[in-house]
Amino acid sequence: MRISNSLGFVCIVVFGIAVLSVFRFNSAVATNAESQIRSTDPPQENPVAPFMRAKLTASQKVLEGLVTESAEKVKKGAEEMFVMSNAAEWKVIQGPVYSQYSAEFRRTTEQLIDSAKKGNIDAAALSYMQLTMNCIGCHKYVKETSVVQIDLDTDTFSLNLEK
Ligand code: HEC
Repeated sequence: MRISNSLGFVCIVVFGIAVLSVFRFNSAVATNAESQIRSTDPPQENPVAPFMRAKLTASQKVLEGLVTESAEKVKKGAEEMFVMSNAAEWKVIQGPVYSQYSAEFRRTTEQLIDSAKKGNIDAAALSYMQLTMNCIGCHKYVKETSVVQIDLDTDTFSLNLEK
């Protein structure tokens, strides 16, 4: 009776150790996988990010031109933005709303170029404000629609959406 009791106890202990080790092994695998995901995360920067940041640099050039009343600088920055808006990197998102924001962006940069060519800094300043509203509007739209996209499909994050 005592022997079978202690045998039972040993069995429970052995079983317990086995369960624990499997659990620990699993969690070790899990943490390993997680750390692998984490370590590969940073290099996966959006490939269009440098292109988009160049857009910011160009818009800063325009602002600098406006505050220093240099029509030439305004024109240069606006021309850079206009060229960028026609690049493939710009068309990362499909759909009518995005196209509308893009068209507005092109129209406003054209107005900027036009005003700068005429040396009309006041008109250029007005267009610049419109342009800034356009930047903010498009980004807001992109952010909202991306959230919807992630909810629908978590493993393939793509910015192709129709809305
Ligand atoms: C037609 C839409 C649209 C307009 C207009 C627009 N952007 Fe963007 N912008 C985007 C998209 C799309 C991204 C990429 C978003 C992402 O990766 O989540 C982006 C990203 C950026 C980024 C972030 C880049 C990074 O580091 O990830 C900056 C900065 C930026 N835009 C600046 C501007 C400025 C400044 C303007 C106005 C002069 C502007 N954008 C107008 C669509 C637009």
